[in-house]
Amino acid sequence: MKPMNFRGRWVLITGASSGLGLEMARLLAKEHGAHIIAVARREDRLLALKAELEGAHGVQVLPLTADLTRPGEAVRVHAAAVEGRAVEGVILNAGVTFFGHVLEQPPESFDTMLATNVTSVVRMSQLFAADFVKRGGQGSLMLVASTAGFAPLPYQTTYAATKAFVISFGRGMAQELRKAGVSVTVFAPGGIATEMLSLSGLDRKFKAGDVGIMSAEACARIAVDAMVHRRELAVPGVLNRFLAMTMKLLPHGFMAQRAAALYEGGLPKEPPTP
Ligand SMILES: NC(=O)c1ccc[n+]([C@@H]2O[C@H](COP(=O)([O-])OP(=O)(O)OC[C@H]3O[C@@H](n4cnc5c(N)ncnc54)[C@H](OP(=O)(O)O)[C@@H]3O)[C@@H](O)[C@H]2O)c1
Repeated sequence: MKPMNFRGRWVLITGASSGLGLEMARLLAKEHGAHIIAVARREDRLLALKAELEGAHGVQVLPLTADLTRPGEAVRVHAAAVEGRAVEGVILNAGVTFFGHVLEQPPESFDTMLATNVTSVVRMSQLFAADFVKRGGQGSLMLVASTAGFAPLPYQTTYAATKAFVISFGRGMAQELRKAGVSVTVFAPGGIATEMLSLSGLDRKFKAGDVGIMSAEACARIAVDAMVHRRELAVPGVLNRFLAMTMKLLPHGFMAQRAAALYEGGLPKEPPTP
């Protein structure tokens, strides 16, 4: 398959208001000349991104304020995105985590996680990929997973399970769509210095500058390159690739035990007694 050329084409990015999504939007506008459809809940940030990218790079930016946990929101975002334009790249990047003992995760936190990390990803993948197929394979999709999806991850147990879903779903979809000329990339980063670390409390354990924690800019560059070159699976960084390989080779029970020991140091309090 030929690499994607996004110059003058529309690329939709969910979670474009911060972190990895924001940096991918900046890079696609600056270095690939792509028009951006920026999706997230925080409208002020999307408007600031529009002003920044349109001013600096002469591309168009369509901000789409959306809460992807709401029923029907994926359908609304798709309809608004394709109205009067052909969307040729879709990056489903919005995601949330929960760091803590699995018994302490409130039901509403899990519902939000499932809707954001899984349900909206499936629905939007189906809607946009169907458009790509109808246009004769003109389009590429990238799903942002995590190395957490390669093996169980204690204390981010539900998050890791959602990312395991994304890896399996994305790779299955890639095979189904291959003959139609549509590429699906699964991007699985390790730790990135973004708001996700502070929002979840993971910054008690991991900080920007720590070994293994990438900058969002560096991670975005590898992600966009993987999508442009239509890679099926991309893991950024030598350390993360080594980790991903050990997760495949070593027993998951052992890996989970090591991960539990690592994360326990960052937990806020003792696990609940039954
Ligand atoms: N940071 C890491 O260490 C790490 C590691 C591996 C994988 N990842 C994955 O990378 C992706 C990006 O995360 P990040 O690290 O860049 O985190 P981040 O800075 O917290 O960004 C998350 C993005 O998702 C959006 N979002 C969250 N809930 C949403 C909702 N209900 N509706 C619409 N948008 C929503 C947020 O925007 P609003 O709040 O404005 O809605 C924000 O733009 C995620 O899928 C994450 O799982 C992150």
